[in-house]
Amino acid sequence: MTLENDDQLEKLKAIGVIVRKAIDAMEQAIEPGMTTAELDEIGAAVLESHGARSAPQLAYDFPSATCISVNDEVAHGIAGPRVLQDGDMINIDVSAEKDSLFADTGRSSIVGKGTPELEELCAATKATLRKAIYAARAGVRVNQIGRVVEREARKHGYNTIRELSGHGVGASIHEEPNIPNYNDPNAREKLHRGHVIAIEPFLTKGIGEIFEMDDGWTLKSTDGAIAAQYEHTVVITKGAPLIIT
Ligand code: CO
Ligand code: CO
Repeated sequence: MTLENDDQLEKLKAIGVIVRKAIDAMEQAIEPGMTTAELDEIGAAVLESHGARSAPQLAYDFPSATCISVNDEVAHGIAGPRVLQDGDMINIDVSAEKDSLFADTGRSSIVGKGTPELEELCAATKATLRKAIYAARAGVRVNQIGRVVEREARKHGYNTIRELSGHGVGASIHEEPNIPNYNDPNAREKLHRGHVIAIEPFLTKGIGEIFEMDDGWTLKSTDGAIAAQYEHTVVITKGAPLIIT
């Protein structure tokens, strides 16, 4: 969406704070031995206590309040009885709605103590998101974001997952434009002031291909490789974007 007034901006900021609080609480609670359902309950409770509704539940009837993806699960993992193990890579993605405005955020982290390789993957993906956000401003074409994502990923020795993209957000959870994580010559739409978008690079040492599991939701890497994702909702300005989450 494109913000039209301060009231919308304030409401967007409010839901941004709520999803951030939910993901913070979940991340702080991560420990070996707990189930992903227990982690999801923590996020769901934060959303509920602030009068927010889970976006994946609202928009897609997703089976849990948040998406929790472990190891070779790349995205859209369903919280459930899976027990987290020391050294697991976990991705939490929280998106929610309040007062008809939506915000979307995601982070990968390591359960307990991770290998230097996983630490590096997280650090590189986080750095890539930072660079991609900085590149996103009024007048820039959408594929400039993917160009930066691809360049940063390669610089650190990773591939991006091309089938997963950032997206417009705000009035609903997934809106136009699609924001590819590579330099897509077709993604020529220009960003403009007040544009609300979610930027979410996915990096992996693997080939970057994914498939959908039989549960109809979970996306796994075809080669079993682990991926990392970080995501922020931002508002486009003439300068550096305003980070909402
Ligand atoms: Co997300
Ligand atoms: Co998103």
